[in-house]
Amino acid sequence: MKNNISSFSKIGQITDKFSRPLRDLRISVIDRCNFRCPYCMPSDKYGKNHQFMPKKDWLSAGEIKRIAQLFMQLGVEKVRLTGGEPLLRKDILDIVSNLSSLPNLNDLALTTNGSFLADKAKDLKALGLDRITISLDSIDKGIFREMSGGKGNLDNVLNGIEVARKVGLGPIKLNVVIQKEVNDSSVLDLLDYFRGTGVIVRFIEFMDVGTLNNWKLDHVVSSADLLEIISRKWKLVPVKKNYFGEVARRYSYQDGQGEIGFISSVSKPFCGDCNRARISADGTIYTCLFASKGMNIRNFMRSGSTDNDLMNILQKQWRERVDRYSELRKDVVKKKKLSRIEMYTMGG
Ligand code: GTP
Ligand code: 5AD
Ligand code: SF4
Ligand code: SF4
Repeated sequence: MKNNISSFSKIGQITDKFSRPLRDLRISVIDRCNFRCPYCMPSDKYGKNHQFMPKKDWLSAGEIKRIAQLFMQLGVEKVRLTGGEPLLRKDILDIVSNLSSLPNLNDLALTTNGSFLADKAKDLKALGLDRITISLDSIDKGIFREMSGGKGNLDNVLNGIEVARKVGLGPIKLNVVIQKEVNDSSVLDLLDYFRGTGVIVRFIEFMDVGTLNNWKLDHVVSSADLLEIISRKWKLVPVKKNYFGEVARRYSYQDGQGEIGFISSVSKPFCGDCNRARISADGTIYTCLFASKGMNIRNFMRSGSTDNDLMNILQKQWRERVDRYSELRKDVVKKKKLSRIEMYTMGG
């Protein structure tokens, strides 16, 4: 918890059409990635010639700071940096140091695939990043490699996690997306590896985000099934939420060897208390992970809009928000395919 004095006074906590407050801002800083996870950026569709966002469209470190400040006046207390792979951004340290200097930001986190973490962890911590979350789908070298589209090196990521732990970027969490018959066989080994290390493993139900992953309900392993499998090996005890709107349901090992979590957006949607706004690297605001369109604020920022103008735009976006995709999934999936923003653009 940071304890600085705010130079900005909050307008106050705004709420959407379902009375949900705005608390959590997730900023994607880049749409590129060095991995090609088949469920996110399949390599046959994202080859060498793929046109990602032009760099000139990326919000600069200064623009990111400005937008975060404005969001904080509307109630945001927590910022998560995402990608693509955020550590590919050459000015990631400037972005982190700008944001960590913001008064009243309680929590600054970053989600990464871990491949550049060993190099960057120390500087990230020194510049004020609070904690890190690593996407790691398997502890089996072969499965890991396959799930990164043949790009990832498991030892490199494990080393990155170890360095992050040593420099104090904790609590370190792992995001593990489980797909039936792809990586469900390596779940117990993964838990075994991290039990007792303080690293919190969180299993995410495979979701129908984006348009490219050929999602089907029978590819999903429900958290309930996973919990049953894990409970046969280790006794787990449910733990209370850490904060309002936390997406993971937490459990601790009864023998004191740490905590794990389940993110069950398919079997137990959590739209009811969803307080997350997302912004893509080119400055488009999205109010749901499953949005098919957003509102670009970059052009306003670059054409002389005042902070007040921008704040009115942001407020309007949130006040008119009616998103609850995961709760409506069953009805929507039956209907025609929607055009949806890809996960690597919105950052998860
Ligand atoms: P903590 O701050 O550590 O509690 O985590 P977080 O809430 O920032 O969660 P994180 O970004 O690590 O989310 C993990 C995963 O949960 C994401 O990659 C998504 O797959 C999923 N997730 C997070 N937020 C949402 C959401 O608003 N809707 C849905 N459907 N899934 C989400
Ligand atoms: N379902 C669930 N989680 C996903 N992620 C990416 N695609 C999906 C999906 N289809 C997760 C990644 C990463 C985060 C950014 O989003 O594993 O942890
Ligand atoms: Fe890259 Fe993450 Fe997408 Fe994998 S899931 S391709 S690591 S952005
Ligand atoms: Fe929030 Fe949309 Fe996810 Fe529901 S589906 S929890 S509204 S981001």
